[in-house]
Amino acid sequence: MTITLDHQFGVQLYDLHPPLDDFRTAVLHGLSQPEKTISPKFLYDKRGAELFDAICTLDEYYLTRTEMRILCTHAQEIANLIKDGVFIEFGSGSSQKIRILLDAMLEMPTYIALDISKQHLQESCQNLVEAYPGLKAIAICADYTQPLQLPEIASIQPKHKVGFFPGSSIGNLEPDEALQFLKNTAELLGSGGSLLIGVDLQKSATILEPAYDDAQGISAAFALNLLTRINRDLGANFDLNQFSYHALYNVNHGRIEMYIVSRQKQTVCLGDVEIQFQEGEQLRTEYSYKYTIPQFEALAAQAGFDTKQVWTDPNEWFSVHYLHLP
Ligand code: AVI
Repeated sequence: MTITLDHQFGVQLYDLHPPLDDFRTAVLHGLSQPEKTISPKFLYDKRGAELFDAICTLDEYYLTRTEMRILCTHAQEIANLIKDGVFIEFGSGSSQKIRILLDAMLEMPTYIALDISKQHLQESCQNLVEAYPGLKAIAICADYTQPLQLPEIASIQPKHKVGFFPGSSIGNLEPDEALQFLKNTAELLGSGGSLLIGVDLQKSATILEPAYDDAQGISAAFALNLLTRINRDLGANFDLNQFSYHALYNVNHGRIEMYIVSRQKQTVCLGDVEIQFQEGEQLRTEYSYKYTIPQFEALAAQAGFDTKQVWTDPNEWFSVHYLHLP
C-alpha cells in the first residue's frame, strides 16, 4: 500500500488510496438478484450527500438532534474520560459532532479524521483547525469499513486511542458486518483504547417510519436520487415518475427497511443490459438497524469491548456508548 503525505493547508493528509468500487458491476450484480438491492454507500454522490444533510434537519428525523443533545449534556464528562487520548473519527464527513467535545476540552487533542472522500476530508479538517487553534488534525483518506492500519505517525504511537463513530451509522451494517466493523476497530485502537459510538434504539414504528419517510419527501428524494445517479453515470433510462419510495419498520429484525418500488411492470435499460421490474417490485436501498442497549452491549462484548458508560435522552430514543478495550 502506498501512503502519500500531502501537507497542504497545514493539515497532514495521508492517502491510503482506498480501492474505488466499480459502480457498474455493483449495480448490475444487485439488480440481477432475486431481491434487487444496491449498497447504501452509492447513495452519497454530491446530491445524495446534500439530501442526507437535509434529512438530518427534518423534524421527523430525531436521530441527529437527539445525539447532539446527549453529547452536549454530557460533554464535560465525556471530555474528562477521553482527554489524554488521540481522537480517531470514522467517516468524519463534515466533522461537526466532534466540535461539541472539543468545546468541552481544555487542551486540544490530536484529531485523526478517516473518510473515503479526500475533498471532504481536506475541507473539514481545514475548517476545524481554523476554528480550534492548537488542534493537530491528521486526515486519512481510507475506507474505514475495511480492516486498516494507521500510518506510523510518531505523535500517536504511545497515546490512548479514542474512536468516535457517531450518527448510528453502524445501523446501516448487517449485524455480522457490524460485528466485523467492531472487531476491526478493536484491532486498530488496541488494548487500552476506547470507542464512543452513537446507536439508535428500538422504538415504536409510529416514530421510526416517519423518520425514514418524511412528509416533505426528502427521504424519498434521497433514495430516488440513486436512480438519477445510475442514469447519469451508467447511461440508464430509469423514468423516476414510474418509481416510488417506501420505508417500513420490521419489528422482528429490529430494522427500518427502505425500498424503491416499481409503479408498474417495466423494462429499464442500463447500457445494453435490460432489467425487468414487475408492478410493485422492490429495490432495497438500505437497512437501518435499531438496537436495545443490552443487545448492543452484547455485540460490543463479542468484539472485545467492555461497556463503561451509556448515555441516553429522556425518551430513550438514542444512545451514546463509551466502550473500552481491556
Ligand atoms: C447514515 N445513516 C445512519 C442513516 C440512517 O438513519 O440509517 C441513513 C439514512 N437513510 C435514510 N435516512 C437516513
